[in-house]
Amino acid sequence: MEDIRKGKGDWEWFVKARFGLFIHWGLYSLPARHEWVRNFEEIPNEIYDEKYFTRFNPDLYNPEEWAKIAKKAGMKYAVITTKHHEGFCLWDSKLTDYKATNTPAKRDLLREFVDAFRKEGFKIGFYYSLIDWHHPHFTIDRYHPLRNHPEKEKLNKNRDMSKYREYLHGQIKELLTEFGKIDIMWLDFSYPGPDGKGKDDWDSENLVKMIRELQPHILINNRLDLEDEWDFITPEQCVPNKWPEINGKKVIWESCQTFSGSWGYHRDEATWREPEELIKTLIDCVSKGGNLLLNVGPTSRGEFDYRARERLEKIGEWMYYHSDSIYGCTQAPEEFKTPKDCRLTYNPEKNRLYVHIFSWPYKFLFLEGNAYKEKVIYAQLLNDKSEIKIGLDEWHRKQLGDIDGICLVLPPFKPKVAVPVIELFLK
Ligand code: GLC
Repeated sequence: MEDIRKGKGDWEWFVKARFGLFIHWGLYSLPARHEWVRNFEEIPNEIYDEKYFTRFNPDLYNPEEWAKIAKKAGMKYAVITTKHHEGFCLWDSKLTDYKATNTPAKRDLLREFVDAFRKEGFKIGFYYSLIDWHHPHFTIDRYHPLRNHPEKEKLNKNRDMSKYREYLHGQIKELLTEFGKIDIMWLDFSYPGPDGKGKDDWDSENLVKMIRELQPHILINNRLDLEDEWDFITPEQCVPNKWPEINGKKVIWESCQTFSGSWGYHRDEATWREPEELIKTLIDCVSKGGNLLLNVGPTSRGEFDYRARERLEKIGEWMYYHSDSIYGCTQAPEEFKTPKDCRLTYNPEKNRLYVHIFSWPYKFLFLEGNAYKEKVIYAQLLNDKSEIKIGLDEWHRKQLGDIDGICLVLPPFKPKVAVPVIELFLK
């Protein structure tokens, strides 16, 4: 871990946890056609509020149930949208009326969330949108729902970003003083340049200072438009091709991804990913030293959609048998070459290597190179801990010749798990 760039917060738990739940939940769960619906359809406050704010009533909301589902899936931390770009707040903020307590929900939904997830042992992360399409002083820029308003310039004359800034800092202060220990502050997002917003608009430097003063252990993401004041980076909807580095140092990273093409609940979106591919994505992240933050967009009734539940269940089935190759694991030492169609992860404390077989080969898996030859002392399938023999029998050796490395003798058919894993004990 020496060659990793560390930020200022407590990062050890984070890189061990590897798998988190992202939750995007707000008024946009009612239109149910993307959390950016206000932007896409250029909806002004009056209409949005009249339609959705007055009707937000999550009658089935049960965060304990959410926490149980997430725990079963193998997730260790949860990051929730306390406020998304639409500006609506899930908690009882003293700085606005635009909050859950004033909807038919009539209560602080964030507090219930925090209590329930803490009870199940989760670390807690707060997503907070720097962008705010509802606040009267947030100036109309290129992403704002009123960007094509004929009197945009005139409207902007009455808007004062410094007032918004004060609001933003005040709200974050509330979030970090009223909910106990918060482990991650996930701020979203900056888009500097013409008609955009960046560090000066948010006063990012002082914001970070305040956050670290209030909760010194907290991890802050990298979307504040600051060069260096962050703990981890956040590739979105992708996995980097290798462990990302900045100035020659590997960085702590977390890929955030959705099950389908939307973060907020989207009823009609149909590009839902297959559980096996999602599991492979998690493995892929860990094999490059990263985390996966997988998102659910609950419905307006406060439930996880059946498609999300199905997938989380499948991931959980795999994690039940294989979490040893995820928790506490990271990229394998370079001397171990990744075998064909596989991903490697490594647990430095246990000194064990995990070979994830993405495509099941017939009979033999070749692990090439001296490192395997010199260091592997025992191999087993992780799902049932049954021995995997090492080495070819004479008859095959004669046909295949000597190999550079070692050969694992696999069962003739793929074990009944989404992605089989072989655990290698090392010298
Ligand atoms: C983007 C989107 C947003 C989503 C976020 C998650 O920045 O604006 O809707 O919350 O990504 O990373």
